Order: sequence, then C-alpha cells, then structure tokens
Amino acid sequence: MNSDLNQLHPYPFEKIRHLLKEVIPANQPAVSLAIGEPKHPTPDFIHQAVIEHLQGLATYPATKGETHLRQVISTWLTQRFQLPLGSLDPEQQVLPVNGTREALFAFAQAVVDRQHQPAILMPNPFYQIYEGAALLAGAEPVYLNCTEEHGFIPDFDAVPTELWQRCQILYICTPGNPTGAVMSIAQLQKLINLAQQYNFVIASDECYSELYFDETKPPVGLLQAAAQMGNSSYQHCVVFHSLSKRSNVPGMRSGFIAGDAEILAKFLLYRTYHGCAMPPPFQAASAIAWQDEAHVRTNRDQYRAKFEAVLEILSPVMAVKKPDAGFYLWPTTPIDDQVFTKTLVARANVHIVPGSYLSRATTAGNPGQNRVRMALVATQAECIEAAQRIRHVIENL
Ligand SMILES: Cc1ncc(COP(=O)(O)O)c(C=O)c1O
Repeated sequence: MNSDLNQLHPYPFEKIRHLLKEVIPANQPAVSLAIGEPKHPTPDFIHQAVIEHLQGLATYPATKGETHLRQVISTWLTQRFQLPLGSLDPEQQVLPVNGTREALFAFAQAVVDRQHQPAILMPNPFYQIYEGAALLAGAEPVYLNCTEEHGFIPDFDAVPTELWQRCQILYICTPGNPTGAVMSIAQLQKLINLAQQYNFVIASDECYSELYFDETKPPVGLLQAAAQMGNSSYQHCVVFHSLSKRSNVPGMRSGFIAGDAEILAKFLLYRTYHGCAMPPPFQAASAIAWQDEAHVRTNRDQYRAKFEAVLEILSPVMAVKKPDAGFYLWPTTPIDDQVFTKTLVARANVHIVPGSYLSRATTAGNPGQNRVRMALVATQAECIEAAQRIRHVIENL
C-alpha cells in the first residue's frame, strides 16, 4: 500500500467519537452544531430539475462538463465578482467538479512536482482536506496560524523566503472555515504578487462566499482581486466554488473551479484519467441553480436570523463574535476545548467540535486550542435551544 496513507490524520469526527466514548449524554434530545452540513431544505426547483433530466443517465458525461453549464458558471462569476466581460472563457477557464472537496484534494495531486521538495501552505485551523491532499501528493504541509490578533488571516509577512521558494500551492479559505474571516482585495493582491514572484498557485476555497450578512457587501474573491490589478487572465489563480452551502444541495456534489487556463488544462487532463465527470442530471440542475439568486437570499435570511438569536444568548457568557461570513461561530472556551465539548454533551446533550481538532500544534502554539466550532446549520428553534443550554452550562461551570 501507499505508505503516505499512514501519514493521514484521523478526521475530526473520528477524534470526537473517541473523545465522547465514555461520556453519557444528558437525558435530553441531542442538538448538533458539530457537522458543517447545511440543513435548510433543498429548493424544490432543484429537485424538479434533477427529475426532469434523469434521461441524461443514458449517456457518459464529458469530464469537461457541458458547454451550457460552463457558460452559466462563467456568467455567474463575472456578475458576482465584477470581472471584466469576456475575461473568463468558459471553454478554457471553468471546470465543473463533484463538490469542492474532491477538487481541492485532486488539485494537489495534479499540480505538485515531487522533485523539488514541495511545500503546500495552508491556514491553521483548516479544512482537513488541504492537509491530506498535501501529504498524498508528496508535499510538506505548512500550517499558517490564523489568530485573532491578525483578524484570523495568516501573517503572510512572517513566512520565510525559503518557504515561498518551495511553495507550490497556497490554499486559502475565504470566508474561512471555521473562523469566518474574509480576506480583503489588498490581502489577496499581495498573495497574487507573491505567487507571481515565487511561481506558485493560489487555490482559493470560496465555498462559503454566498453566506454573508450584509446584502450590499458580499465577500470579495481571488479572481476579482486579480482582475482589479490587471491580471485578467487570472495567472496563478484558481477559485473553488460549491452549490452545497449556497443552494443546500450537499448531496448533489456540485461545484466548479475557475481561473488560470494553463493550470486548468493540465487539471482536466488529470481528471480525464481520474474519471470524475459530473452526472448529466446534476449538471443540468446545477446550471439552473447557478442562475437563481432568490433562493440564496432566502438562505442568507435564515442564517442571519439564527446568528442574531444565538449571539444574543451567548454573548453575555462567552467571548463570541459574529464572523465576517459563513455559518460557523468560533468562540473561545471558558475551559479546555476538549473538556468543554465533553461537558456540553454530558450536561446538555449539545454537540460541537473542539477547536484543537481542526488545527495543528505549531512552534507558535495551536490556534484552535481553547476555541470551539459551532455550526448554525440546524433549525432556528434548535440553534436557540442549543445556545440556551450552552449558556446554562457555562453559568454553572
Ligand atoms: C472549507 C470547506 N471547503 C470545502 C468543503 C467541501 O464542500 P463541498 O465538497 O460540498 O463543495 C467544505 C465542506 O464542509 C468546507 O468546509
């Protein structure tokens, strides 16, 4: 077997299972804020679109995806991120993927050149796929701490030149999971300059970009930053987007990547062999979903209401702030994060994720320690119930 498999870390939910093995949950219905899985119902028009296109099951799909879907995605990106008209060629600069998870992983396998001591830089805490992708691609994962002092954005100025020289991919996550931090145009442009200087690829995971609070201020994106600095061929830049959170279809496994044509051409070659074309009914339904914004606004309204209610309950008893975007809270804990997680289950049957399970220890400490992640994905009533129980537990610690 591939010995690199032994380097993979257990997934956070495996660690939680182990942590809670001996914990007897409080005798109340369980409420989970643990898994980052959207729970709002899938819009009916997406169900209908899948059903109406079931005849597509009779043909093999092309890995590159149907022209119509790529055109729709290019139009969506252009409008959403104010890209110069015609700057994003749907033929060469857009690829449908089966969810960003699959693409974030596969991307490193296609990009990394193992012969030059490759390093892949990533935020810490992070979405664990970045790390697994690096390890299986034969690259060294380098963890860049996201601390509150730096607005939960890595301190890129502190990265030594030697690392930039070995960097082949820089994963960024904006809005961040779990911190919710959104990078600014200036921060993104600084990274694009570094990518040009040291010849690496920026893989920008933007799968939470459509979940934000202020309708007039959507999070900016990497392609937008590139275009605004005159890099409208998006060299060194690849963005990852998903319908999972935007449209409440995590089971459809639909997303796309877009950006640098040269990199996408090579990635398409890799994918042809990998065999990961999107099933035709999902391609058709995805095209319809990307063309509708009304359901996404409704989605945001629901998250907005939940954040407001939960923060009102929790703010008086813990250090918790509204994130820039996304659906997570990332508060500090009054006691050790693992002990806090166990205590919440034992006393209130509320489930959350210890911050230290989403991050790695570094010489500068573990930025997830004594924080927890709470995903406000359940119904408003359940989120409120969970927040009230958490508050009660903290008041009685
Ligand atoms: C930061 C981040 N990236 C990517 C994904 C994968 O999403 P999907 O594969 O559903 O597009 C997730 C899912 O939780 C995530 O949190």
